[in-house]
Amino acid sequence: MKRPSPRPTPPRSPAQPISPSTSKTKSRTVKPGARGTMVPKEWRDDVDRVLITPRQISRRIRELSTEISRDFSGREMVVVSLLNGTVLFLADLIRHLSLPLRLDFIGVSSYGAGTESGELVFTKELRLDVRGRDVLLIDDILDTGRTMMRVREILTPLAPRCVRTCVLLDKPARRVESIQADYVGFVIPDLFVVGYGLDYAERYRNLPFVGVLKPERSSPA
Ligand code: IMP
Ligand code: MG
Repeated sequence: MKRPSPRPTPPRSPAQPISPSTSKTKSRTVKPGARGTMVPKEWRDDVDRVLITPRQISRRIRELSTEISRDFSGREMVVVSLLNGTVLFLADLIRHLSLPLRLDFIGVSSYGAGTESGELVFTKELRLDVRGRDVLLIDDILDTGRTMMRVREILTPLAPRCVRTCVLLDKPARRVESIQADYVGFVIPDLFVVGYGLDYAERYRNLPFVGVLKPERSSPA
């Protein structure tokens, strides 16, 4: 799939290294038994409980955006967001980033219709030239780490100046690859979650909260 390359912007000089450090504000750890808001009645048949409320999400996104704006200050970054799970998170995050940025997407799917990690399928390739650029790579959740690892392998030969990673959720219990994200919204236990962009069989992405799917909803019919 050959697509026309967008006009490159000149590199900024002098190059100010962005902070190599990882997130300074502590990501929120969500406890397995955390009981919060009631599940809205229209979702009660499908969702067992709300794990992270819209209010918690929005507060944490503001913290992350402040941090990212500070770390990338004086740079022009390319935000590379993985489709489809990041759409809500991405939209809310970048509207708070007070930085010049360019936005592009990589389409990648790892789950198919189940809850277990499957083979990676790429559905859209990157169009922007990231050579010499600061890249902020965004995903919805870091689970086994295979997706993030594979995408990093794709980005490396494109010679970006640096790649920082940002995820809404981190599920460290299931990690297979040795990889961590630089910016993490919430650390969650080993549960299959949906909402705020995350799906089960392409459903539930529109939930305004992150919730735990009822087991009967994710088992084969
Ligand atoms: P990884 O490659 O195993 O790290 O998985 C990353 C991808 O799997 C994410 O981008 C999600 O699309 C999907 N995923 C992992 N855990 C969940 C979950 O609990 N709910 C929904 N999707 C998930
Ligand atoms: Mg995904």
